[in-house]
Amino acid sequence: MTTLDLTAAGEKLIRHRRATRAFRPDEVPEQTVRAVFELAGKAPSNSNTQPWQVEVVSGAARDQLADALVAAHAAGRQSVDFPYQEGLFQGVQQSRRAEFGALLYKTLGIGRDNDDLLEGYNVKSLRFYDAPHVAMLFAPSNTEARVAADMGIYAQTLLLAMTAHGISSCPQALLSFYADTVRDALGVKDRKLLMGISFGYADDDAPVNAARAPRADLAETTRFHR
Ligand SMILES: Cc1cc2nc3c(=O)[nH]c(=O)nc-3n(C[C@H](O)[C@H](O)[C@H](O)COP(=O)(O)O)c2cc1C
Repeated sequence: MTTLDLTAAGEKLIRHRRATRAFRPDEVPEQTVRAVFELAGKAPSNSNTQPWQVEVVSGAARDQLADALVAAHAAGRQSVDFPYQEGLFQGVQQSRRAEFGALLYKTLGIGRDNDDLLEGYNVKSLRFYDAPHVAMLFAPSNTEARVAADMGIYAQTLLLAMTAHGISSCPQALLSFYADTVRDALGVKDRKLLMGISFGYADDDAPVNAARAPRADLAETTRFHR
């Protein structure tokens, strides 16, 4: 029997993926985009229910969606399907979040009182960090934690499939704060928006792409029993 040795490839794939926040304008060939989403569909799910419904947006539709998001933001028209309240992150999660936020804003040169720079960055985020494509991940309307777990597993499978094909990405919860805008633009009904994933080819010269989010030590997150 032959065994497939995936150790080196798997290590490389998982360690190489990272959130990219500046993209080049060139599109990923359509055939590659399709191959990546076909691969992502191999993700496991509770009883093989595959609850994800994915809208992949490119070209003129992508530009129109970005414009609609920026307009909704300017008008203060937010709508979330999965409620978010201040205080969602507590304790060590909150301190990791603060540490990462400080690192990111330092890389971007955004200080405490730089409201204009922050606003410019938010608009860039709503324009998918200039990525030529975005995937909107919709979940069934009755989604609760167990279904959300399937969605998360799909999302990571998609991110790794992209990495394997040389495509960079950024999962963006921010885009889910404009769920009605996204549904209207894409003609989606009766589904909840969990996140968007911007993707394309990384702009390797952009300083923001040099930011590296640290990770907790293994002992902080994982216990081994026997
Ligand atoms: C569900 C989810 C939502 C996220 N939302 C955003 C977002 O709105 N904007 C952003 O710039 N990054 C977002 N990120 C990226 C995280 O900040 C990033 O994954 C984390 O800091 C770890 O860094 P790494 O992905 O480079 O390893 C999100 C990631 C996940 C998994």
